[in-house]
Amino acid sequence: MRPIVLIILLWLGGPAMAQNIVPDVQEDVAQGQALYAYYCATCHGSDGTGNGPMSPSLVVAPTNLTTLSRRNNGVFPITRAVMRIDGRDPLVSHGSMMPVYGDFFAGTDVMTKTEAGQPLLTSQPIVDLLGYLQSIQQD
Ligand code: HEC
Repeated sequence: MRPIVLIILLWLGGPAMAQNIVPDVQEDVAQGQALYAYYCATCHGSDGTGNGPMSPSLVVAPTNLTTLSRRNNGVFPITRAVMRIDGRDPLVSHGSMMPVYGDFFAGTDVMTKTEAGQPLLTSQPIVDLLGYLQSIQQD
């Protein structure tokens, strides 16, 4: 292989390989929906409006997740949602520092973007969930 080819390959592949970050990650809405049904619907309801079977026994009512954008001036609050799901912004009902769903959603190996366009490191399951949550927003 000619040196120039090798240099180009290293230049292209180097940063991505070094950080193990997938840029412009794609969300899988169907996968997000499956995760939601499994991990979230008991409290937030199968339709996301907050009326899951466990909701009557909770001290704090589960949030209506279909109005996250509406309550945030029409912009889906990506940063807040990510941090509340992964426990960086702890919610009592989510199990405070340790989310009720264990460390399944932990991880910072995937890069997404905040609503302001800044990079935000998170995990693939959370990106999928966000895709699903965005798909159920009512305007
Ligand atoms: C044990 C019941 C329960 C489960 C399970 C649960 N939540 Fe929640 N969630 C709540 C409650 C109650 C609140 C209201 C805020 C609080 O806890 O102080 C909430 C709040 C939230 C918020 C914050 C909304 C806002 O306005 O900032 C988000 C986002 C959220 N939940 C997403 C999820 C997702 C996604 C899942 C599944 C991975 C999930 N929740 C699982 C009970 C639950």
